[in-house]
Amino acid sequence: MELSGRSILLTGASGGIGSAAAGLLAREGAKLTLFARGPGPLEIVRRRIESLGGAAVAVSGDVRKPGDAARAVVEAVGRFGGLDAVVNNAGFGSLAPFRDGSETLLAEHLETNVLGTFRVSRAALPALEARGRGVIVNVASFAGRVGAPNYSYYNASKFALVGMSEAWRRELLPLGIDVVLVIPQAVETAFLDRMGRDRALGAGPAGTVVSPSAVARAIVAGLRRPRPEIYLPAHSRWLAAMNVLWPGLSDRIMIRLFRGPKVARR
Ligand SMILES: NC(=O)c1ccc[n+]([C@@H]2O[C@H](COP(=O)([O-])OP(=O)(O)OC[C@H]3O[C@@H](n4cnc5c(N)ncnc54)[C@H](OP(=O)(O)O)[C@@H]3O)[C@@H](O)[C@H]2O)c1
Repeated sequence: MELSGRSILLTGASGGIGSAAAGLLAREGAKLTLFARGPGPLEIVRRRIESLGGAAVAVSGDVRKPGDAARAVVEAVGRFGGLDAVVNNAGFGSLAPFRDGSETLLAEHLETNVLGTFRVSRAALPALEARGRGVIVNVASFAGRVGAPNYSYYNASKFALVGMSEAWRRELLPLGIDVVLVIPQAVETAFLDRMGRDRALGAGPAGTVVSPSAVARAIVAGLRRPRPEIYLPAHSRWLAAMNVLWPGLSDRIMIRLFRGPKVARR
């Protein structure tokens, strides 16, 4: 899809990946509806886009609230005459051992990463269908493909997001709507700091950190030329494949990389 003049709704637009994506999309000439909770940081991104000569509207809201998700779509359609694409990037992540976490922590992850994405996308679907074509980009995570010690609460939400996206892709393609999954390993943003990078990063390949601008470029590439999945770094796709083909071997590797307790070999 040629991005110039396209109306795009971007959630999590004030964060590390979101603000980098907003800048790139504005340079491509897209008309942006920027969505996140905090109005201050969102306004900074909107002004930066305006200073680049781009068109953007800021909508302060929470993806966990169905009314806010619907309002963002109404704003995008009202301001820019329709909607061509949605980038579901807003996300929440926190690490905890399974025994120390809580049902509340699990619900927080599911509310933002799964239900939030669901609500925004479902609210946007009629507007995308009205155009006769469209793209939904869901920013998942390598944690949506491979489980790791202390990640189970986040893993649960991102695995659900990946499965939901895969089903949408197969259901919506005949309607002219592409669904793209962007699957980054760790990204250098405040999100990683909040998770606690000592625990979040493993050894060797599990310690790879990519830049927010690399993820932003992947989002732009997915919008321009939709494809099912984009891994960052690209070779992490093979680790995800190994996890499916040889789960027992992957258990031993992941435990070692994340320095978990010794377990008996199965
Ligand atoms: N950083 C990583 O290591 C990493 C790795 C893989 C995947 N990801 C995924 O990449 C995405 C973006 O992450 P990031 O690293 O850019 O994080 P970030 O810097 O913390 O930004 C998160 C963005 O989402 C918004 N947001 C959070 N909860 C929201 C809610 N309930 N409603 C609306 N907006 C909400 C935040 O703004 P407000 O707080 O103001 O709402 C902010 O704009 C997330 O989905 C994350 O899971 C991140």
